[in-house]
Amino acid sequence: MNSTEIKQADKDLIWHPFTPLINPFGHLSIKSGKDAKLFTHDGDTIIDAVSSWWVNIHGHANKHIAEAIYKQALELEHVIFAGFTHEPAVRLAKNLMTILPKNYSKVFFSDNGSTSIEVALKMAFQYWYNQDKKHKTKIIALDGAYHGDTFGSMSVSERSGFTRPFFPFLFDIETLDFPTEQNFDQVLSRFDKLTADENCAAFIFEPLVQGAGGMRMYTPEMLQQLVSLAQSRGVICIADEVMTGWGRTGTNFACDQIEANPDITCISKGITGGALPLGITACSSKIEAVFQSEEISKALLHGHSYTGNPMICAAANASFELFEADECKANIQRINQRHQQFVEKLNSYENIENIRLRGTIVAFDLKGFGETGYDSDARKKIYPYFLERGILIRPLGNVIYLLPPYVITDEELDQVYDSILTFLDNLIN
Ligand SMILES: Cc1ncc(COP(=O)(O)O)c(C=O)c1O
Repeated sequence: MNSTEIKQADKDLIWHPFTPLINPFGHLSIKSGKDAKLFTHDGDTIIDAVSSWWVNIHGHANKHIAEAIYKQALELEHVIFAGFTHEPAVRLAKNLMTILPKNYSKVFFSDNGSTSIEVALKMAFQYWYNQDKKHKTKIIALDGAYHGDTFGSMSVSERSGFTRPFFPFLFDIETLDFPTEQNFDQVLSRFDKLTADENCAAFIFEPLVQGAGGMRMYTPEMLQQLVSLAQSRGVICIADEVMTGWGRTGTNFACDQIEANPDITCISKGITGGALPLGITACSSKIEAVFQSEEISKALLHGHSYTGNPMICAAANASFELFEADECKANIQRINQRHQQFVEKLNSYENIENIRLRGTIVAFDLKGFGETGYDSDARKKIYPYFLERGILIRPLGNVIYLLPPYVITDEELDQVYDSILTFLDNLIN
């Protein structure tokens, strides 16, 4: 099919995520990718400055990952994961245990970030249920949170235009104001009351950086205080590391920057380097212990057809090898240093505010461009502006952020930075 045929058939048949069915922009047809670059069917090159929804940590079409999938496909492509196991899954579990907190003892496989959250919520609720504490059903989440699009994950996320049609079906939670330097004392005192409540079951949070909420950042000190207070009350702490995992914030996981260990950690996105979908819900031995029983009623009765798929595990293991290599760690540091230099330049611009940087994520807010949100006017203007210049940036409303693959070169980063600075130079508020 040529580019025109693909676009027409796409328009006729495909329902894309987060996109109105009548969409004047259409969808670009991508033929191939390599490292930080995407190549369209029309012959254009695009630098992927956001790792394609934050997943492609090692860039596109990575040979090492592709070969691992191919090799595994020839050996065993899939097998039911109840009553059976296989080496790629066991290897992955062992690999994960080397970077998870020392008190972690089990990993549960699912399909994506949202399902890793569903599993975490079920684990937390059933942790109390199995101990006959059925009244413990209240979840605390942060204002502005995004944990996914399934019903449980929507329930613990910010109520927004994205979930409005489903409000009647979402369960109630307690929402805590997003912590800032200005409000932290009040936040902590409210958290103190919420966690003291008999019904409080769990606290779920995106550690250090709220992704879809606008790359909002808060400090390790604040997170440490919240987690340690919750744990002192026995409240289960669920870290949603779906976006922040795999070096994004400078450490393997964002929670590595605090002393306390969350009880449950949700992992996805970068885990396979963007090659295949996978969600992991990992837990501490304290959580596991409550499920240690031969009774089926005490078991976590959850699973998906593709749970523990061997090819996906092989992709994750290959991605893990790349992630553990010195080159990857050096790239993470290099990007952070380059971002720091970029921030120095950004500091002289008066039409932006709230410049923030953590690890490989840099973000700032455009002044006078309205609110954060996918449907904002800012996004409608900024997104095509950069695409026309060969750069994939998906602003979150008035928030422009970069979250590049770790293999992005200095030259590509310069191209992205220069293009943002030119945009800001020409911005008429
Ligand atoms: C922090 C966080 N949690 C969960 C999710 C949901 O992941 P998925 O889109 O793979 O379902 C996302 C997706 O952006 C996310 O950023």
